[in-house]
Amino acid sequence: MLKPNSTSGDTTWFVHSRFGMFIHWGLYALPSRHEWVQSYERIAPSDYYERYFTRFNPHKYDPHRWALAARQAGMKYVVLTSKHHEGFCLWDSNYTEYKVTKSPYKKDLLGTFIDAFRKEGLRVGLYYSLIDWHHPEFPIDIFHPLRDHPEAEKLNQSRNIKIYSEYIYNQIEELLTQFDLDILWCDFSYPDREYKEFPGKGRADWQSEKLVEMIRRISPKIILNNRLDLSGAADIYTPEQVQPTEWVKVEGEPVVWEACQTFSGSWGYHRDEETWKSPGQLIRMLVNTVACGGNLLVNVGPTSLGTFDSRTYDALSVYQNWMELHSESIYGCTQSEFTAPQDCRLTQNGNKLYVHVYAWPFKFIHLEGLGGKISYARFLHDGSEVDIHMPRWELKQLDLHTKTQILSLPIKKPDVVVPVIELTLKK
Ligand code: GLC
Repeated sequence: MLKPNSTSGDTTWFVHSRFGMFIHWGLYALPSRHEWVQSYERIAPSDYYERYFTRFNPHKYDPHRWALAARQAGMKYVVLTSKHHEGFCLWDSNYTEYKVTKSPYKKDLLGTFIDAFRKEGLRVGLYYSLIDWHHPEFPIDIFHPLRDHPEAEKLNQSRNIKIYSEYIYNQIEELLTQFDLDILWCDFSYPDREYKEFPGKGRADWQSEKLVEMIRRISPKIILNNRLDLSGAADIYTPEQVQPTEWVKVEGEPVVWEACQTFSGSWGYHRDEETWKSPGQLIRMLVNTVACGGNLLVNVGPTSLGTFDSRTYDALSVYQNWMELHSESIYGCTQSEFTAPQDCRLTQNGNKLYVHVYAWPFKFIHLEGLGGKISYARFLHDGSEVDIHMPRWELKQLDLHTKTQILSLPIKKPDVVVPVIELTLKK
């Protein structure tokens, strides 16, 4: 079985957990039309401030409800946007006034958030945006809302990325010393994305090496993602809105990886987004990930009131219902050494093999390479035995049963989104 080389951060708990919740929350919850709304609609920082910062007051915010929903859905860790590209900070930072404690809400959100999730037994991480569309020293570039402003070039002359990079340094240092964190998720670099005469941004702009040195010094065990534009510094790799079909490799070596996915295409709360994934898609996304040795981080975008909307609760309950019956095939599991049969995905944990059946066949599943290797088979959802003792005379004649293990299934698919058969391998 594949095993990535170890890195500085502690990923042992992480690869065991397999399933986490991403939360994108900020001022963009008010317009409710994508967390990139400021960039897409080219809203000047002063207008954005006026319209949304002065109205941010999530009086229904109850992190205990969020944490409970995450735990019930089977998620073992959470990553929250402490600051997204808009630049608004969810904690009482010493380095800006553009923060929750200066908004009408007045109170810090991060401390209570972290306590609530820890209380439910989840590990906690923070997302930190390297991009900042509010900070006056952040040079205008391809994504900046002022990129098409007639004076953009002139405005840039007074902006100094060095000063901005110190801001990043100070804020990350502040987050790491103020809060107890398991993951730091920095986002993102785009050194090759030039626009007009404006260059993209990468390691030299963020001062990535200096940042990593500080992060490792303060929090040696923290898990750091791969978006600082530095090779070899990351603990985890983070494909976004795509599902890898095999174990993710970097320079030919398997790495610890985590796919991040949305329920509906947008990360921030998006009222009119209609592409919510179906129950089958949600469960298969999780299974496909673990079957390729990865983690899945599924995103929730809370409303500006501080609530999850009903579509979010529906999607979470899909995971809850399935995970209550099938979590053994996820936690502690990884890509199997065996090849999955047709229309199935395999995960494995030691001598337990889990067959996830995507399309219910008529009566039989043929497990190639497993003939004679299985001592017992059962469904996870109800513990009922699945018959492996079927050396039917016609199969004997065909010599099939020696290489191939045959499972005999009920005609009707069990009433769960994706049924799972647990196989115990002989010692
Ligand atoms: C992208 C987007 C962003 C989202 C993130 C999640 O980098 O800019 O909106 O937060 O991906 O992976």
